[in-house]
Amino acid sequence: MSALGDVAGWLRCPVCSDSLALDDATLRCPALHSFDVARQGYVNLLGRAAPKNADTAEMVAARDRFLSAGHYAPIMAALAERIANAERVLEAGAGTGHYLAAALPSTARGLAADVSVPAARRAARADPRVASVVADTWAGLPVRDATLDAVLCVFAPRNPAEFLRVLRPGGRVVVVVPNTGHLAELRAEHGLLGIEEDKAERVESAFGSAPDVERVTFLTHLDERAATDIVAMGPNAFHGARDVGATNVTIDVSILTFCPTLTG
Ligand SMILES: C[S@@+](CC[C@H](N)C(=O)[O-])C[C@H]1O[C@@H](n2cnc3c(N)ncnc32)[C@H](O)[C@@H]1O
Ligand SMILES: [Zn+2]
Repeated sequence: MSALGDVAGWLRCPVCSDSLALDDATLRCPALHSFDVARQGYVNLLGRAAPKNADTAEMVAARDRFLSAGHYAPIMAALAERIANAERVLEAGAGTGHYLAAALPSTARGLAADVSVPAARRAARADPRVASVVADTWAGLPVRDATLDAVLCVFAPRNPAEFLRVLRPGGRVVVVVPNTGHLAELRAEHGLLGIEEDKAERVESAFGSAPDVERVTFLTHLDERAATDIVAMGPNAFHGARDVGATNVTIDVSILTFCPTLTG
């Protein structure tokens, strides 16, 4: 509960956009719209059922196992460098909260937001410095204007206008997107969904400013468990479970850092 207390002042009511305050185990705005903290420590600020593309409990469990095994540690380390001076950090589409917990500077506080309830449940225990809410990036973030030092978005839906709204002057948005070579070995063998050719360029034009781009690419060995999990944790999971053998895979992502007030 203390992580939520630490970030309550960043939040805004999803109904009337006024401020929220934590009162015992309930977030309340001055108009008395109220949102109870769930037993598992997250708060649902969605106000409706989760959409169909929200990660399922099985996908979150696979993602949890995979990320806990450390295969994506180089991406997390690169993110940590990108937000080394941030004190208030949101991750939109945070999933299990692994990236936020790993990248957050030691004295900073983090808010994991995801439209999936199983993800929010998991993120609520990712780290004592990380609070967790259920929220839809498309519908608008339940965060006050000009509040955050950094917004992270890793393999998740982006809403540039919202990310920029919640950013304080001098803040940054850090987006991770897969490149076409990402998991190419698995894509070829298991018919996984493709990656758009010009994904990074599309993200750039959506934000309307030029980012700093860092490419992180490496080869890693996945045992059968990890290979099965990496398929089960992604959008491919919606197309049916499958067993995947041990394999070497290419990790190939771009980290785009937008500093809007510097680039104008
Ligand atoms: C591919 S996962 C990435 C999760 C995490 N960032 C990671 O890399 O481990 C995409 C995440 O975005 C979430 N998501 C999908 N649509 C969303 C939306 N409209 N608003 C917030 N989260 C959303 C899913 O529930 C899922 O947790
Ligand atoms: Zn309200």
